[in-house]
Amino acid sequence: MSATQFTPRVFSGIQPSGNLHLGNYLGALKRFADMQGLEMETVYCMVDMHAITVWQDPSELAHSTRELCAGFIAAGVDPEQSILFNQSQVPEHAQLAWIFNCVARMGWMQRMTQWKDKAGKNQQNASLGLLAYPSLMAADILVYHATHVPVGDDQKQHLELTRDIAIKFNNDFGIDFFPITEPVIEGAATRVMSLRDGAKKMSKSDPSDMSRINMTDDADAIAKKIRKAKTDPDALPSDVDGLEGRPEARNLVNIYAALSDQTVAQVLSEVGGKQFGTFKPMLADLAVARLSPISTEMARLMNDQSEIDRILARGSERARAIAAPILDRTYEIVGMVGAGKR
Ligand code: TYM
Repeated sequence: MSATQFTPRVFSGIQPSGNLHLGNYLGALKRFADMQGLEMETVYCMVDMHAITVWQDPSELAHSTRELCAGFIAAGVDPEQSILFNQSQVPEHAQLAWIFNCVARMGWMQRMTQWKDKAGKNQQNASLGLLAYPSLMAADILVYHATHVPVGDDQKQHLELTRDIAIKFNNDFGIDFFPITEPVIEGAATRVMSLRDGAKKMSKSDPSDMSRINMTDDADAIAKKIRKAKTDPDALPSDVDGLEGRPEARNLVNIYAALSDQTVAQVLSEVGGKQFGTFKPMLADLAVARLSPISTEMARLMNDQSEIDRILARGSERARAIAAPILDRTYEIVGMVGAGKR
């Protein structure tokens, strides 16, 4: 069954594991905000249960979850228009994940690049949750029968696995119940790279803070990081082909395009021929203009944490109203006695 036979619904999630950065903003948050009002219900989640697949200090986890909620709202996600909540308040995610643990195969999980990267050489010592992570992610999406999932490029493999789980469940039980979800990986900034190395993704776990722009950085820090970003000695090209083999130049132009809502070709027609000495201050001004109102608003929202908690509680209730009947029906399909009577 294709996703088009289901009511269109958007779902996506972000881990509350600290250091929200420009990649999260351009690859996810900004696009989440843009997808509101497109005649699709939008459901957005702080995936705290995913975060604990690696160790999280409990008080930091709570702080990061609230800060991430503030980040969603400051980036333009409206908690009335969208459903905004944290994963652990909707137990249906974990319940469906268990069913999917019994549908998915070990080999599927062991092939995931994120598992290999995060577990590293010491797989025996990684948590079982880290291995099963994609099964919980499939449950996050499918417990809402979500059809569209906006993410950055690094989540593509997990979304393919989500489709595999839905297909196998539907085949195993001979029923077209779960939609085959469409990944939405679009725009100039689906893979924002490190400012220090154009071959590495911008990441919260990079030991160098100069490699990323954090959403809590002030104007001086943003300008400094862009000024010091690695580049090459040539002027910017006037067309997209000219970025070939120039990963750092491509990254800065992509960032400029995404922040200014233009295509890369449009940006190059404006800045082609300029040296980085001219382009970097333009990019810094744009980044500060876009990001500093967000960080100011995040700080303001964090002053009233009980309001954030109320938003998350209300979002969780709205999320459960969708998830509970889908989980009940899943239990019934699987043959669990008492399904539908919870
Ligand atoms: P997470 O928390 O690592 O990242 C959140 C979102 O930010 C995007 N992203 C980037 N985009 C562009 N450039 C970058 N450098 C960059 N770094 C991160 C990610 O692609 C993601 O969209 N497994 C997910 C969370 C998750 C989820 C889900 C997502 C759990 N359940 C269900 C969608 C649907 C993750 O770890 O994202």
